[in-house]
This record gives sequence, C-alpha cells and structure tokens, in this order.
Amino acid sequence: MLSELVTSANFNDSTFTLWQVITVCDQVAGGFYFGKKIIGEPYSREDEDLLRTTISSAAHVLENLQLYSELEHARERLAAENLTLRQQVRKEMPSYEIIGASIAMQKVHENIENFAKSDAAVLIRGETGTGKELVARAIHYQSPRADSPFVAINCTAIPESLVESEFFGIESGAATGVKQRIGYFEQAHGGTLFIDEIGDMPLSSQAKVLRTLQEHTVRRVGSLKEIHVDVRIVAATHQDLKNEIKAGNFREDLYYRIGVLEIHIPPLRQRHSDIAVLATHFLSEKEKKIGRVLQGFHPDALKLLQRYDWPGNVRELENEIERIVTLADDGESIDEGHLSPHIMDEYSSGSDETLFLENIRDAVDRLEKRMILKALAECKGNKSQVARILGLSRLGLQKKMKRLNLAEKGMQ
Ligand SMILES: Nc1ncnc2c1ncn2[C@@H]1O[C@H](COP(=O)(O)OP(=O)(O)OP(=O)(O)O)[C@@H](O)[C@H]1O
Ligand SMILES: [Mg+2]
Repeated sequence: MLSELVTSANFNDSTFTLWQVITVCDQVAGGFYFGKKIIGEPYSREDEDLLRTTISSAAHVLENLQLYSELEHARERLAAENLTLRQQVRKEMPSYEIIGASIAMQKVHENIENFAKSDAAVLIRGETGTGKELVARAIHYQSPRADSPFVAINCTAIPESLVESEFFGIESGAATGVKQRIGYFEQAHGGTLFIDEIGDMPLSSQAKVLRTLQEHTVRRVGSLKEIHVDVRIVAATHQDLKNEIKAGNFREDLYYRIGVLEIHIPPLRQRHSDIAVLATHFLSEKEKKIGRVLQGFHPDALKLLQRYDWPGNVRELENEIERIVTLADDGESIDEGHLSPHIMDEYSSGSDETLFLENIRDAVDRLEKRMILKALAECKGNKSQVARILGLSRLGLQKKMKRLNLAEKGMQ
C-alpha cells in the first residue's frame, strides 16, 4: 500500500503556487496548496526552497497518518475475519464432549464450569490418557477467552536447547541463519496456553516461564525488548509435582503459580461406571468414521471391558473400540471373541484382586465360549478339529455352541 506523491511548483513573476497531492491506495487522500500573489519584493529562490521543504514534510506526515488509518482499518478487518474463521473452525471441529457421569467425573464437570469463569492458572493432574487435554480445551472454550487462540504444547516433545526459543520466540539473526519466530506465549496472546507434561520442563526454563507469569512480558531470544502478553495458563502433568519439588526437579514457586486451581482426573479403573458409556460413545463415533454398522455390545463383552484395568485409560479404550470396529463385519454384535487377547487374558489369568464373584455357571459359560471361539479361529472353523482339541465329541461341541449362542457362519 504505497502512495504516489505528486509534487508540482509554479513560479512566475506575479504569482507563486506550490501543491502536493497525496494518494493512498489509488485514491486522493488530501494535499497541500500554497498560493500567493506577489506584491512588491518577489520571492527569492531560498523562500521557494523553504516552502517546498515545509510542504513536502507536512505532506509526508499527512501521508503517514493516512497510511496508518488505512492500516488500522485493515487490522480491524483482519481481526473480524479472524474471529469469524475461528468461530467457524470451532463449529466444524470434532466435538470435545467429555463423556462420563460417575461421581468422579461429575466433580470434573463441575470444576470445568467453575474454572472457566475464572482467569486463574489451572493444573490438571491425571494418568496418561485420562483426558487432560480434553479438559483443558473444555475450560478454554467455555471461558471468555474462547474466541482467542488455544495453543497446546508438550514439554516432553521439545529438546532442552529449544525450550526458550519455542516459548519466548527468537529474533532473526540471533544465531547464524535464524529467522524470526514468534514463541508460544505470543501466539496464545489473549487466549490460553496449555502446557502439557509441565513436570518435564527443564529447571532453567522453569525460571524464565515463572518470570513471564509474574511480569506478563516475554523477551524473544536475541532481543532486549519486553513484549506484553496476556495469556491464561492451563498446565497438565501425570507426575506428583510435590515429589518432584522434594527431589529438586521442579520449582516450588512455579508450582504455586500454576496450581492456583487444580483438577484431578481419576484413572478409568476407578470409575467403572464410565466404561460402558465411553465404549458405546466410541462405538458410534468409530462406526461413523469407518463406515460400518454393528449390533452393539453383547453384555458379556461389556462385562469384560469393565473388568479390565485400562493402564492407558480412555485413550486405550478408544483404540480398542476402533480396532474392534475395523475388524468386525457389518451387522455383527461385539462379543468376547472380538476383544484383544490381553483384555481376555487379564480376566482369565487374573489375580484374586481382579477376580469377580458371580454365578459360577456364567463364569464357566464364558470360559467355554472363549475357548471354543479361539479354537474355531485357529482351526479356521473346522468343527471336527475343534472338537478333537477340546476333548469333545462333534455332537457335544455342536450342543455347547447352540447353548452358548455361538454363530455357525464360516464353520465347516
Ligand atoms: N471423558 C472423555 N470423554 C470422551 N473422550 C475422552 C474422555 N477422556 C479422554 N478422551 C479421549 O481420549 C483420548 C486421550 O485424551 P487426552 O489426550 O485428553 O488425554 P491426556 O490425559 O492428555 O493424555 P496424555 O497424558 O497421554 O497426554 C482423546 O482422544 C480424548 O478425546
Ligand atoms: Mg495430553
């Protein structure tokens, strides 16, 4: 957006005129005109030069003002466009619905609602895959900062030597061949910065992050200029930060800064009632994604899912359901035979802790069903072979299969 400057002077014995027209974006934005009828002493060459310089300087000032106001308009237009795009993206984003109505999850929902109203830092604690990032996004998108950026970073993914430039940015030329880069704090200006696995942040960087949280300014690497940033911090960790403080790995002052509000998401094994709801939710999500229609879960399969320990928490459950939907045939109902072997194994080889007291007949049925399904898979459906392996007559096997409602398809 460069203006074209037109300068013209007209000088003769009796009149003297000078003008300068300023155009911005091909439109006349203003100008200066000076005209005088000369009576008596004519203007000297010096007078003319002085006027030329004065008008030219004033014209530059006016031009800059015009450019500035054009830029302001452009900035406002971009900001409005940005907001519309952000709202559109949010509408089109996969839903960030947090599933679970166990007492523990009711508490999490309540915390999210209350913490979204505040602007204080939040620390989310929980094992891997419990939904820490999901909760962080929910807080942001329910907060007044929702239309500003949500920037998520994982400290474990950043090499120690890059932490500073990634968080605070870097000026071009700060090191050979380095181009200017804006850091996470500046990117999240006006919004929320989600710092995942904050317990893994190197001690040297912790001091600098603390300084930014206290002073609300950042200094890019290679610069002395302080840049104001308005960012809400939501951090997450699977570690016990108090232990890390004792071990000298985490700064206590930073802990108190980031942990003003705290949310603990319990592991899935401590909220069994959420498993069936989550499994059903993921089933319909994955059916849509993969383009398959199944008949839902057989109650025995759901029972097994509920008894498994889920060390990888909700993420592991989601992956298990995706695997099942990928491998199952259209129209099938999901039974024990569809589950991953380790989910079945845990139950059969389970310690007394995982042993579930129930009707022995049901437990024996379940075991028989699993053994038959496994043998059928290994023998590619050949029932005579299956009967031999399991020590049954072919007729005995058929009767059992009928009683256990085992499908006949694909068997010989
Ligand atoms: N309550 C829930 N309802 C629906 N989906 C969930 C829930 N909890 C977790 N998920 C899903 O499980 C997956 C893992 O969640 P997320 O990434 O938030 O976990 P995390 O605690 O941040 O894990 P990590 O510690 O490994 O970073 C995501 O796909 C998320 O959508
Ligand atoms: Mg995470």
